[in-house]
Amino acid sequence: MAPVPVLQGYALRLRPPEISELPALYDWYNDPEIAAPFDRFTLDALPDFRKAVAEADGDLGSLAPRFVIERLEGPRPIGLLGHYRPHPVLETTDIWYMLGERAERGKGYGKEAVGLLVDYLFHASDLARVGATTDVANVPSMRLLEGLGFRREGTMVSALYHHGGWHDVAFYGVTRSEWAASPRSVNPTRDPPA
Ligand SMILES: CC(C)(COP(=O)(O)OP(=O)(O)OC[C@H]1O[C@@H](n2cnc3c(N)ncnc32)[C@H](O)[C@@H]1OP(=O)(O)O)[C@@H](O)C(=O)NCCC(=O)NCCS
Repeated sequence: MAPVPVLQGYALRLRPPEISELPALYDWYNDPEIAAPFDRFTLDALPDFRKAVAEADGDLGSLAPRFVIERLEGPRPIGLLGHYRPHPVLETTDIWYMLGERAERGKGYGKEAVGLLVDYLFHASDLARVGATTDVANVPSMRLLEGLGFRREGTMVSALYHHGGWHDVAFYGVTRSEWAASPRSVNPTRDPPA
């Protein structure tokens, strides 16, 4: 995949993280309520976080953030996005997303940002499918995916351990043709009808 570009939507821009802002982005990972309300909380040391971000470009399996989300007005990071190959054999790429600034949640930014990322992945690669997994209790995440046209494909029972218990995980996917046919209200880069 080509080097990480800048992607512009209606209200947001996605761009690669800058080295100088990594400590502030890392701080989001220090708060389990921000980073992992529905996930296992693990925190690498800051030097490991820096190294993971620096090496992510050449590593399709990297879970490091590949984009920061910023508003066109008042640019500063409000969230992070990543994509990774979750399986050594299957030809699918999964996405993850986090609005680190909690005050910015619930304003449509997550949905726009993920839409831009999905669009980029289909344009920059020959992937036939983009996927995502989410704890079945993570209602905002599931609504975000379903609002973007992702199909819920199934449930993995007791697949994720966090907060002292096993949790079920929903897996979602959208195919290239489904995405290409999606309306502009869903796909933030789609041209309006003539
Ligand atoms: C998941 C997350 C990225 C959503 O981003 P967001 O900017 O708050 O979401 P949006 O405003 O774009 O809303 C997306 C959908 O979720 C719904 N939603 C948002 N917050 C909600 C809430 N607290 N409760 C119920 N639904 C909610 C919205 O109504 C919208 O659905 P709709 O299009 O059907 O109206 C954000 O909540 C977050 O960062 N959570 C913590 C990290 C995380 O869980 N990441 C996903 C791991 S799989």
